[in-house]
Amino acid sequence: MSILLTGGAGYIGSHTAVELLNKGNELAIIDDFSNSNEKSLEAIKKITGKDFKFYEINYMDREKLEKVFEENKIDSVIHFAGFKAVGESVKEPLKYYHNNVAGTIVLLETMIKYNVKKIVFSSSATIYGKQLSTRYVETMERKSSPSAYGNTKIMIEQILEDLYKSDNTWKVAILRYFNPVGAHNSGLLGENPKGIPNNLMPFIQKVAVGELKELTIFGNDYNTPDGTCRRDYLHVVDLAIGHLKALEKLDKEKSGVYIYNLGTGSPVSVLELVNTFIKVNNINVPYKIGARREGDLDECYADPSKAEKELNWKASKTIQDMCRDSWNYIQKNIKGE
Ligand code: UFG
Repeated sequence: MSILLTGGAGYIGSHTAVELLNKGNELAIIDDFSNSNEKSLEAIKKITGKDFKFYEINYMDREKLEKVFEENKIDSVIHFAGFKAVGESVKEPLKYYHNNVAGTIVLLETMIKYNVKKIVFSSSATIYGKQLSTRYVETMERKSSPSAYGNTKIMIEQILEDLYKSDNTWKVAILRYFNPVGAHNSGLLGENPKGIPNNLMPFIQKVAVGELKELTIFGNDYNTPDGTCRRDYLHVVDLAIGHLKALEKLDKEKSGVYIYNLGTGSPVSVLELVNTFIKVNNINVPYKIGARREGDLDECYADPSKAEKELNWKASKTIQDMCRDSWNYIQKNIKGE
């Protein structure tokens, strides 16, 4: 039996592939390389010493997707694929609804055709929007997002819940990621976006290697201890392991929709993250304080207790580990991929 990973060459998908292969699973990976490349596939093989099936396709291509199901005994799907640039999604919403939402529908229809009804979906803490408490619990309602990207995550969660209502033999795990950072400690896998990064850690990495001049911290007048925003950064390898635990949970259950926050439960400010990076790596990261970025929340972090209790999952890596591994990776992969 194989596990199908959509977007398996990407940042989170590739780290999950490593953990799954290390546990002896068979994998079929599909990816269209829209935000990844072949190098990560080679890295997965090198790290694990194991092979897997790979198809360079977009998951909206029904015919080619069906072929993947024909050629492999797919037992479950981990669905990572999707566009994820928040700013771009505001400018080009249809691109996001088309790829993320319509693409997921094609995937689910294909799964039904081949009688595969077990799926783990990559959702995001963004679905919570602004809440009264900054410690987010799975029972909080989903709030319409200012970005089309955020709304695609909300819609797909809803689609999965409706699908389960229509056929309660489905097994669905929805994983709400907080802020994944870090890299595999081999330095072979990590995140290295092309151009100017949108997210904090990739930006810090590029300043540290001298590709960008300085980091701008978006505002220091937030309602937090040091005035900079606080987030729940978690190591991508911890996150990857969360997917294995979610699959194990689905294997144990008869059916159902299970939703989990994946985060550490500890908020860290922008300044704390930058200063930790500087300290553990003994490298300078010049920064200045700039204006606020529109739409940023003062603080948001996970209540991870449900995942701990039901999945037996707990993030184990520290902020120091995240900063060390991010630096190790970027030094070995200076050019953006
Ligand atoms: N930040 C800076 N300077 C930068 C980039 C970011 O100060 O150059 C700050 C932001 O203002 C924010 C923090 O660093 O306070 C983290 O920003 P990121 O863009 O790295 O992460 P976000 O929390 O804004 O967004 C992340 C994911 C989204 C997801 C969202 C909510 O990138 O996909 O969490 O879950 F939607």
